[in-house]
Amino acid sequence: MGRRCRAWVLAATLLIQGAVGIRITRVSVPPLVKAGGEAELACEWESESDQMYSVKWYQGSHEFYRYTPTASRPIQIFDPTTLDVESGGSWAGTVRVANVTAAAEGPFHCEVSAEGPTFHTASEMANMKVVDLPEGGPEVTGARQQYQVGDMVELTCTSRRSRPAASLSFTINSMPAAPDWL
Ligand SMILES: *[C@@H]1O[C@H](CO)[C@@H](O)[C@H](O)[C@H]1NC(C)=O
Repeated sequence: MGRRCRAWVLAATLLIQGAVGIRITRVSVPPLVKAGGEAELACEWESESDQMYSVKWYQGSHEFYRYTPTASRPIQIFDPTTLDVESGGSWAGTVRVANVTAAAEGPFHCEVSAEGPTFHTASEMANMKVVDLPEGGPEVTGARQQYQVGDMVELTCTSRRSRPAASLSFTINSMPAAPDWL
């Protein structure tokens, strides 16, 4: 009876340590970034009994950044082809990415690990989408110089390449065009 009771107490202690060992308190990634722009990915953590050992950032399953404060080179960047990581602007859990392209989309994971003997690990996910605005506004073509009363007006509105694709709508004298005119 006494032994079973002690085993139960030990299990409860391990569970509690697992819960408070190391914990990610904030992962922030801009949900939308303009192509060509910059993004800051930030990861913050809290540890009670554990000592933080490393912070890693992943794009999908690919690790591209690691911070190990006790290493002789605390920052390692694994030259991802999809991200331009600014080595000068990145430290601890914060990573700066420049020249964002469509390939720089998430999902991203931050993973914080503790030193031994516990080696607790916490991980959190955040997503980032890249938007590419069209170069210039939409163009309306097909207008004639003159119309007679009762003529049909046929116009085409074109927007340049963008990501996601533009959604176009017509208004006539500031009123939305009726669907059967489109
Ligand atoms: C962003 O692109 C410019 C121009 O190609 C380049 O000089 C710069 O090093 C790039 N930034 C990073 C962080 O790779």
